[in-house]
Amino acid sequence: MANIFPRTADGVMDWFNARAPGFMPVYRKHMSEYYAPKNFNIWYIFGVLSIVVLVNQILTGIFLTMHFKPSAAEAFASVEYIMRDVEWGWLIRYMHSTGASLFFIVVYIHMFRGLMYGSYQKPRELVWILGMLIYLVLMAEAFLGYVLPWGQMSFWGAKVIISLFGAIPVIGNGLTEWIMGDYLPSDATLNRFFALHVIALPLVLLLLVVLHIFALHEVGSNNPDGVEIKKGPKGNRWSPTAPADGVPFHPYYTVKDGFYVGGFLIIAAFIVFFAPAMGGWFLEHDNFTEANKLVTPAHIKPVWYYTPYYAMLRVVPDKLGGVLVMFGAIAILFLVPWLDRAKVKSYRYRGLMSKVLLGLFAISFVWLGKIGAGPGTDPVETIVGRFLTGFYFLFFLTMPIWTKIDKTKPVPERVTTHD
Ligand code: HEM
Repeated sequence: MANIFPRTADGVMDWFNARAPGFMPVYRKHMSEYYAPKNFNIWYIFGVLSIVVLVNQILTGIFLTMHFKPSAAEAFASVEYIMRDVEWGWLIRYMHSTGASLFFIVVYIHMFRGLMYGSYQKPRELVWILGMLIYLVLMAEAFLGYVLPWGQMSFWGAKVIISLFGAIPVIGNGLTEWIMGDYLPSDATLNRFFALHVIALPLVLLLLVVLHIFALHEVGSNNPDGVEIKKGPKGNRWSPTAPADGVPFHPYYTVKDGFYVGGFLIIAAFIVFFAPAMGGWFLEHDNFTEANKLVTPAHIKPVWYYTPYYAMLRVVPDKLGGVLVMFGAIAILFLVPWLDRAKVKSYRYRGLMSKVLLGLFAISFVWLGKIGAGPGTDPVETIVGRFLTGFYFLFFLTMPIWTKIDKTKPVPERVTTHD
C-alpha cells in the first residue's frame, strides 16, 4: 500500500510546504536567509523584547477580557474580583499592568538605539516612520487601557486628557463631547474605550509591527558601526551571494535573542511578583480607589511614560499653545531622518559635539519626565521645564546644522567586532 502518512519530520515539512506554498519563502526571507550584521550588541535586543511584551499584553489581555465588565457601574469591582477571586487573576492582571510599563521601557531604549546608531538614515526612513506610528498607537492604546479599571486616576486622567481637545478653536468642545459620548467620562466612554483597547488598536499595532519588520528586512539591519553590510564584500560560508559580514538570523540571532529574552523574563518576573505597582510609578495609588466624579485627586498626573510630554504641556501658560507644543514634540520625531545631515550613521564615528548634544537630549527628556510627574506647583521647576522644552525643540530644529558642521571620524570599510 502506498505511504499516505509522512513518517519523518522532513516528510511532514514537505507535505506542509506542498500545500502552503507561501510559508517557506517567508521563513527563508525573514529567518534562515536573512543575513544580519555579525556585530549586533546588547542594544539590538530591544526590538525582540518589544515583540515579547506585545505577545504578553495580547495573551494576558485575552484572559482579563474574560472577567472584566466594561461598564461604569461594574468595572472597578470586576477588577477587584479578578485580583481576589479569579484563579491566578492577580498574576494575569499584574503581568498586563507591569507589561504596559515594560513596553515603554523597552521601546524607549529601542528608539534611543535608533538615534545613537543613525538607524533612521537612508535607506531606513520608512522603518523609522513605521516605528513612530507604532509609538503613537502604543501611547493611545496604553491611555485607553488605563481608563478601563475605572479608578480615580482613570476617570480624572481621562477627563484632563480628553478635555485637551477642547483647546482646538471652533470644534474643540463638540469634539470633546463626541469622544466621551457625554459631558464627563461615563459609561459610554468606558464602553467605546474598551472596544478600541481590546480589538481596534491591537489590530493596528500588530499590522504596523509586521510592516515595520518587513520594511527593515527589505533594506537590511543597520549595526553599531553604521556600515552597510550589503555594500561590503560578498560571500560567506552559507551563501556566495550573501554579505560577507552577515550571519543567518536563524539560528544565530534566535539563539542569542533567546538568551536575553530569558534574562528579561527573570527581571520582569521579579517586578511582577515583588513590586507590581513600583511605588506608584506603574500603578498609581489613586487608582486603587473607585472613580468618583465629585472628588478630585490631589495631583492628577499621567503614568511615567507620558510625563515628559505632560511637563511640556504644563509649562506653557496658554492651553492651546501647550497642546501644540506637546503634539509638536512627538511630531518632530517623525522628521529625524531628514533633519540629520551627518555623513556617517553611527555616533561611534561622530564628533564630540554630536555625542554631548545627544547625551544632553536624553538627560533633558528624563528630567522633563520627572517634572511632569510632580505636582507642577514649584515656580523654579516650571522655569527649568521651559528651558528643557526649549532645548528639546532646539535639539531637533538645529540638527541640520550641527550634524553637518560636526567633525566625523573615518568609518571602517567593514564592521568591527570586539571578540
Ligand atoms: C511594538 C513596538 C516595536 C516593535 C515590536 C519593534 C520591533 C523591531 C524589531 C524586531 C527590530 C529588529 C531588531 C532590532 O533592531 O532591535 C526593529 C528595528 C528597528 N526599529 Fe523597531 N519596534 C517597535 C517600535 C519602534 C519604534 C517606536 C521605533 C522608532 C520610532 C522603532 C525604530 C526601529 C528602527 C530604526 C529599527 C532598525 C534598527 C537598525 O537596523 O539599526 N521601532 N524593531
